[in-house]
This record gives sequence, C-alpha cells and structure tokens, in this order.
Amino acid sequence: MSDNNVVAPSLGALRRRHSSKWRRFEADVLPMHVAEMDFQIADSIRNLIVEMAQESDLGYLGPVPEVAAAFAGFAKKRWNWNVDTAQVKMATDVGVAAVEIFRTLGRPGDQVVVNPPVYGSFYNWIKEAKLEQVDVPLVRTDQTWQLDLNALEAAFAAGAKFYLLCHPHNPVGKIYSLEELQAIAELAHNYGVTVVSDEIHAPLTYAGETFVPYLNAGEAAAKTGIIITSSSKAWNTAGLKAAILVSADEAMAQRLSKLQPDMHWRTSLIGAFAMAEAFTNGLTWIDSAVRTIEANLAFMSQQVAAKLPQIIISSPQNSYLAWWDVSALNLGDDPAATILAKARVAVVAGTDLGAGYGQFVRFNFGTSRANIEAAIDAIAAIQK
Ligand SMILES: Cc1ncc(COP(=O)(O)O)c(C=O)c1O
Repeated sequence: MSDNNVVAPSLGALRRRHSSKWRRFEADVLPMHVAEMDFQIADSIRNLIVEMAQESDLGYLGPVPEVAAAFAGFAKKRWNWNVDTAQVKMATDVGVAAVEIFRTLGRPGDQVVVNPPVYGSFYNWIKEAKLEQVDVPLVRTDQTWQLDLNALEAAFAAGAKFYLLCHPHNPVGKIYSLEELQAIAELAHNYGVTVVSDEIHAPLTYAGETFVPYLNAGEAAAKTGIIITSSSKAWNTAGLKAAILVSADEAMAQRLSKLQPDMHWRTSLIGAFAMAEAFTNGLTWIDSAVRTIEANLAFMSQQVAAKLPQIIISSPQNSYLAWWDVSALNLGDDPAATILAKARVAVVAGTDLGAGYGQFVRFNFGTSRANIEAAIDAIAAIQK
C-alpha cells in the first residue's frame, strides 16, 4: 500500500478497527452503510499523528494559521479559488459548524430548505438548532437528479431564512454546475436567504468533472454563502474531529463573528494539524483514492448489472456512495432491514435520507472489490 495505490486492507484487518462502521452491527455483518472509506490513510497524515503522539503533543488547540493557509492552497490549486484566510474558522466537525451557524444567525422556528434525498444528519442539525425543515426534493430523471429552481424560489419566497446545500450531494453524488450555483445565489440574494454549503465531499470529485465552490460562483454567492467543510471525509479521518467554516464577504464575516469563540477550543489538535497536512501534502493520496473509487464504481455497476439488474443506480460525479433504487427487488417495506436480516449486509435505509425514499438504499463502495462483490452476491442470493 502507498499513497500512489490507495486500497483497502483485508476484511480481517478491517474487522479489527474500532470505528462505528465496524462496531455497530454483529460480527458477521458486512458494513456498507456509514460514509467511512476502508482505505488506508495517507502516509504523511499517519506520520504526523505518530510524531505528535510520540512527542506527547496532545494538548488544546491554539492558533492554527496552518489550517487556513493549507485550505487556501488546496482551493487555489484544485478550484482556482482565492480564499481569504482571515475568514476561515475552526469547528469540531461539520455538524457542529452547521448547528452553531443556525443557532447564531437564526432564531427558533426559522425555515431551512433542504433537497431530499439528502444526508440524514441534515435533518438532525436543523432540529437540534430548533429550526424548521422545508423540503424541496430533487427531481429524478432516470439516473440523474435535478434541482427544481422554481420550487426553490417558492420556498425562499415563502420566508426561508437558510438553504442547507449539499454540494456535492450525498447520496446522489451530484455536483451543482456553475450556472445552477449562480441561479441559487441570485435567488438567495433576492430573498435574503443565507446559503450554508456543505462541501465535505468536494475533494473526491471524479476526473473530468468540475467542482465549483459555492463562494467562488460570483458576487451574489460570495455575499450569501458560508461553506462548511473538512478534510475528514475525503482523507478518511472522521474520528479526528476538526472542520472549518469559510466566508468570503465582510458583512458575512461580521455576522459570523458572533459565533461562540469556544468552538475553536472544542476542536481537536490532531484533527486540525491532520487537516493542514491533508490539504498541503495529501494530493497524491487523494488522486489515487479517486482513481480507486472510480474503478470501484465501474466494478460495482458491472456486478449489479450482472447479478441484480433490477436495481437502478444513480450516476454519481463524486465520492463513494451509491444511491440504489431497489423497488424492483420486492424486498418489502424496509429493504435495508431485509438486506440486513437475510444477506447480513448493512446499507443505509432510504428513509434515513428523506420521507418517500422507502424503496431506495445507500451503498458505500469505498472499500475492496472483494467486499463489494461479497455484498452484491449476498443481496442477490436473497432473491433465490
Ligand atoms: C454531506 C456530509 N456532511 C457532513 C458529514 C459529516 O461530517 P462531520 O463528521 O464533520 O460532521 C457527512 C458524513 O457522511 C456528509 O456526507
């Protein structure tokens, strides 16, 4: 294994891991649910963690200009975006960043627009901040999902205060185009909506696809938006607990200055320095991880076509999550429960990502081909 060849270790080694993915279910279950990859982490991140532990360098987080500088360097190289490093703040994780933004800039009962099917924690964050969720579902056209701009405008016109954008989108792997982002920004500007853009999956964009950070989509976007992100999803270090929130406008920075300063101290020291390391020296690793993910997507699609051709897979442009329409498999009211009980494979139930998605499941293919094949074989065997 090396940064040039990012792969997953054996199932035996994976089962020794301590994370939720490997502990939530019984030992015979193959976990293909939570958004953790099984790949080995980047060498330089591993070395950094070992060195900090060896030096007993495990105290509280102090000033970390390294993080903003590293993110700005990555954003310039990958997305040609000039980040104002003075407008980068730390948070424990992306969830904490979202909740604190809602609490600080919003008032209980404020409406937040989301686009189901979407990452289930979005709903929890909105509830935790005592805000109200407003659904503007993505519209499906066969294997792709589109934003309904008219419905978005209607929700903004009806009084929404926030738009929690998932860009790139979990679970469908959609990347919003520059035109779509500009249309969103125009609407947000006209209706006084604050766009909170969760861009945690962005570094996992496939070769040939173009990702534009919301804040780099023009003046209206810069004025209306806040990006929440981390290296933790893309470099597979979710347990290290560090994230950032970024703005690109003085008035927005002024609003964000009211965030609890304690957010900084509640962030992990190792997490912050691992993030600086990822954004600075993690490019070889991330390119290799994306190559593996793209190859896995092709492999998974081919396996599904051969063994479970009734499944319709959405076409992702990013990341390692597949959104499967399993309605034609006739797995009952709760296909994820049936798959868990009968195939001993854990997938995420569609209903966790939005009401009305009961016949969908989310399948994580950020693992070895052996695990992908074993999971698909086990699910296919349910039919027999
Ligand atoms: C879109 C999205 N945002 C945020 C997270 C979680 O981020 P954090 O652990 O930093 O809260 C995930 C995890 O899967 C995700 O898919």
